Amino acid sequence: MADLIFMGPPGAGKGTQAARAATERGLAHIATGDMLRAAVRDGTELGLKAKEIMARGDLVPDEVIIGMFRDRLAEPDTEAGFVLDGFPRTLAQAEALDDTLTGIERSIDCVPVFDIDLESLVGRLSGRRVCRAAEHVYHLQFNPPRQEGICDIDGSELYQREDDRPEVIRNRYQKQWVEAAAPVLDYYEGRKLVVFIDASAPRDVVAREIDDILDRFDSA
Ligand code: AP5
Repeated sequence: MADLIFMGPPGAGKGTQAARAATERGLAHIATGDMLRAAVRDGTELGLKAKEIMARGDLVPDEVIIGMFRDRLAEPDTEAGFVLDGFPRTLAQAEALDDTLTGIERSIDCVPVFDIDLESLVGRLSGRRVCRAAEHVYHLQFNPPRQEGICDIDGSELYQREDDRPEVIRNRYQKQWVEAAAPVLDYYEGRKLVVFIDASAPRDVVAREIDDILDRFDSA
């Protein structure tokens, strides 16, 4: 069993690798961004609150995210281990995560950090398309669907996320990565849990680096 956090700026490839690794290793993939977009789609109270905040590229308030995460962690598929994708993003979220895990006698095993420059991110995010049914991720150039505009996995329509516009990408990068995430990174570096990954490499190369990390826990 392994409990991991995939950290990195928007568009670094966390979701792509987390979905793959979780499926292959039987881990739960907990992606707060996907959960929020599902709430927006379903028109829930949470979704109505989060919609405008997300479209601007700002952070949804900590108490909302922490509550949503705790509910998700209570589901049975997390017992075999999890990959957190997009959470925690602030120091308050990291501390709440630790408290929650301590309460169930678990702790984070490793924090792979996806390292990549801003200009590469703008290219990745402007070409990203996701499916309406389940947020499966594609890229017009690096990972195109077999049939244009249609998800290979569930046949639903592909769309461009509202926050994948260049001006919003830059806001997300500055506020969420350069500002809010810096103390979170320090927090996990202080615990010697951080491993930097070269996220500018092609997908299969990044996948091998992630698999090497996961192998350590499978054989432990
Ligand atoms: P969220 O959905 O978590 O967005 P994010 O962290 O900004 O990450 P992304 O999904 O944009 O990117 P990713 O790293 O997963 O990259 P991907 O694999 O898709 O959050 C959205 C919003 O929700 C936030 O802005 C905030 O408002 C709110 N929110 C969420 N969590 C929150 C929290 N904890 N607290 C407060 N607010 C929160 O890859 C990107 C593209 O590149 C894809 O097209 C992919 O095909 C392609 N690609 C991937 N890897 C490679 C590669 N190696 N080479 C070439 N292309 C690649």
